[in-house]
Amino acid sequence: MDSAQAYSIRYHENNQEVALEGSLRPQHAGDLDPVRQCLAEAAASVRGTLYLNLKRLRYLNHLAFLELARFLDHCQREWPDLRLKLVVSSAVPWAPIRFGHLTERFPNAIVEQYDKAFYPGQGVIENDQLIPVLRTQTNIVWAHERELLHRHGLRHGLRVADICCGIGDFAVLLHKEFKPEVIVAVDHSRPFLQYAIQMAKEFGIADIEYHYGDAANLFLSSNTFDFVTSRLSLQIFNRPELILRELLRICKPGGRVYLTNEMMSHNYGYPRHESVSWTYAQTLKMLASLGMDLSIGPKMYSLLTDLGFEDVQMEQIGITNTNTVVEDFARVIESWEEYITGELSTATQTPREVVERLHAGFQDHVYAIRSRRGFAIWPIFVASGRKPLPTRST
Ligand SMILES: C[S@@+](CC[C@H](N)C(=O)[O-])C[C@H]1O[C@@H](n2cnc3c(N)ncnc32)[C@H](O)[C@@H]1O
Repeated sequence: MDSAQAYSIRYHENNQEVALEGSLRPQHAGDLDPVRQCLAEAAASVRGTLYLNLKRLRYLNHLAFLELARFLDHCQREWPDLRLKLVVSSAVPWAPIRFGHLTERFPNAIVEQYDKAFYPGQGVIENDQLIPVLRTQTNIVWAHERELLHRHGLRHGLRVADICCGIGDFAVLLHKEFKPEVIVAVDHSRPFLQYAIQMAKEFGIADIEYHYGDAANLFLSSNTFDFVTSRLSLQIFNRPELILRELLRICKPGGRVYLTNEMMSHNYGYPRHESVSWTYAQTLKMLASLGMDLSIGPKMYSLLTDLGFEDVQMEQIGITNTNTVVEDFARVIESWEEYITGELSTATQTPREVVERLHAGFQDHVYAIRSRRGFAIWPIFVASGRKPLPTRST
């Protein structure tokens, strides 16, 4: 097989899993000898369930598909008690259907679409109701981030990846401001990507590559990007370290991973600060019930350090009514109000009286923003770290 059809197969004994990755498009049956051998050895050595991890198997031709069918058939006859679990990702749209057909023929095999329940809040976040929130947020954050990105190592002409890119507005801004050599933007929401692609088209930008994908299992190659960003996103996952490992993997040695996240309990608005603080404390609880940690901002320093990043830099953007256009800031809070008292309250079955109080708290935040003597803040934590260069063995 040539390199365009490259795949890898590995057996992980400790979790009884064979992981197949890449592009499996053999021309001749003999091309599949390593696959056959690995599968046979794994099946012979396990009891209970053998996992076939196909999450990153991007392509599979008919010959390879027949080989997998043959393997399932062989297992069923040789080890009737062995169960096979085929784990696939929705990022490969054909996989659940095609492998689903296989399991109809082989009762010992089942297909699991692992990202169906990737984290409990997935449906709430990928919903197009969030589009106005994302749009208004980037509007006001960019004015601050634009300068600060230089301090975190972004320069002209780099290879950049924006993971969990949302509606793609940040990628467009980076494209205009920093003229990257390559910019790839990945998200797991089809409505957001559709919006992003349409927006880039309207701006006449053809060279941002948008991909549908899962941040915890990216199809992007290792050591590829100089600058990897993921903004306001680690905070929505119940296992943020899984994403961070992927960001580290695709980053080149010496390149940087750049993150922004919030500390929602520090959102503040004076004079009606008690109501404002109550509202954000309540929102935090609602989000936590969906597995999200909107207090992760300051924890990024330890997350990056623990994963082995070097030169970890942290700072804070304080969006206030004194450094931001008042009406733009107010619109952000109003977009939160709509989303949190609507979509999020429904998803978390929040009682009506609590929703009423939430409404009041957001309005009090907006009041602080607009009031002549009021003060309001939305703090965002920024962190970046450098991927270490490989150490030379002497
Ligand atoms: C809070 S939004 C932030 C979007 C964007 N970075 C911004 O700053 O506007 C989180 C994003 O993560 C995306 N997302 C959720 N789960 C994902 C996954 N498993 N892989 C990739 N993106 C995911 C959502 O669709 C959403 O666009």
